[in-house]
Amino acid sequence: TRHLLGIKDLNLSDIEQIFETADNFKTVLNRPIKKVPSLRDVTIANIFFENSTRTRLSFELAEKRLSADVVNFSASSSSVSKGETLVDTVNNILAMKVDMVVMRHPYAGAGVFLAKHVKAQIVNAGDGAHEHPTQALLDAFSIRERYGEVAGKKVVIVGDILHSRVALSNILCLKQLGAEVMVCGPTTLIPKYIRSLGVKVEHNLINALNWCDVANMLRIQLERQDIKYFPSQREYTMLYGLNKQILDSLDKEITIMHPGPINRGVEITSDVADSKQSIILDQVENGVAIRMAVLYLLAGQGA
Ligand code: CP
Repeated sequence: TRHLLGIKDLNLSDIEQIFETADNFKTVLNRPIKKVPSLRDVTIANIFFENSTRTRLSFELAEKRLSADVVNFSASSSSVSKGETLVDTVNNILAMKVDMVVMRHPYAGAGVFLAKHVKAQIVNAGDGAHEHPTQALLDAFSIRERYGEVAGKKVVIVGDILHSRVALSNILCLKQLGAEVMVCGPTTLIPKYIRSLGVKVEHNLINALNWCDVANMLRIQLERQDIKYFPSQREYTMLYGLNKQILDSLDKEITIMHPGPINRGVEITSDVADSKQSIILDQVENGVAIRMAVLYLLAGQGA
């Protein structure tokens, strides 16, 4: 595939190839000289129509480690505010001889739309509540790093499944890799179709945590909720917040993940997020190697 629009476009061997390539880049990133010349003739535009800390910096670092030329575009400080369309914006960037576009956008399907209408290779850095493929790849890669393999592992994704692109991409990626997946949260935040993806549904946090090897704790996406959802933030924390007391009461040592940004004290307490069972910062570290792998492999598919 010329683009990376979603995990749904990848098969098992694509994912394994990305992981093996990321293994090599992780070795490079641990050397004193972290840079390789692989994308020396490639120009990449990172265009972000929605806020980001991790994904934007991680893609930019990955591109620079691969020796690509990089330009960054943030919609809030651009001529989008003067009425310029998405296609016009991107075609104007491409006229400056840009090869690849990494895009985050608040609308589901924005990457698919763009791939149909412009010539560049498109990498989806998160489109609305739809997909966030590189997040799912770095999450699964981090589980593989922790346990040696993903197949057979039990992973629960806790929280706002309804509004989460991280949840959908994680489910698709983990199922391809042979993990067992459960989602846990209030009925109002779990979409009805989710069982059709082959995942278990559990509404009780303690039951879910006792079942799993890995718990991926998601944030409540208040920015995507246009009506008042039950439960309120305080009720959510009481029912689904993970604290040290709960963690220590479990029979086995589970692994704690979070894609960030964390709302400390809401979905997870600081003592859990910062505990030795947490691999949250390993996820962030692995994000650079995964994005290097994705960009490197896509560049090989050419324009
Ligand atoms: N995990 C993630 O996508 O974080 P950002 O929104 O900060 O990029």
